[in-house]
Amino acid sequence: MNAPESEEPLLRRAVCPGSFDPITNGHLDIIARASRLYDQVYVAVMINKSKQGLFAVDERIALIEEVTAGFGNVVVESFHGLLVDFCKQRDIPAIVKGLRAVSDFDYELQMAQMNNGLSGVETLFVPTNPTYSFLSSSLVKEVAQWGGDVSHLVPEPVLTALRAKLDRS
Ligand code: PNS
Repeated sequence: MNAPESEEPLLRRAVCPGSFDPITNGHLDIIARASRLYDQVYVAVMINKSKQGLFAVDERIALIEEVTAGFGNVVVESFHGLLVDFCKQRDIPAIVKGLRAVSDFDYELQMAQMNNGLSGVETLFVPTNPTYSFLSSSLVKEVAQWGGDVSHLVPEPVLTALRAKLDRS
């Protein structure tokens, strides 16, 4: 006998978590690829009260919303506490993370195993586009702070916001 058809369509959901201070082209590439693999992608911006970022969490969210709007299936939210709780509250079974290099792997594997042990959530690793394998928000901020060109490393709205923050035109 066939199972009764559910009224609600089953959405395949995933989350891309991070600090996103600010979002870079490397992050955007991973989110874009996740958005092609899943019906709905949550971008979860971690609130870290013990670490003052360059951008406030609301500013990070606004920038991510702006640069992901074209994907059509991305929801941006902040969270504090455990990522697995964020997933549980929204019925998200998968975390999608980019792996830039082998050096990322040790810590990412530990987090993936911890998260799986805590709640059963799976982590899927996507190899970063080699163009962005050296890229991090911290390096972007450092280079931009000293007047270096980061225009090829971040989306245009982020570049504008960085220049405004750092008072460079
Ligand atoms: O961009 P980042 O700073 O590398 O992202 C790290 C993040 C937010 C993915 C990670 O620190 C995280 O998941 N924090 C939430 C707290 C949590 O769940 N900790 C247990 C992980 S095993």
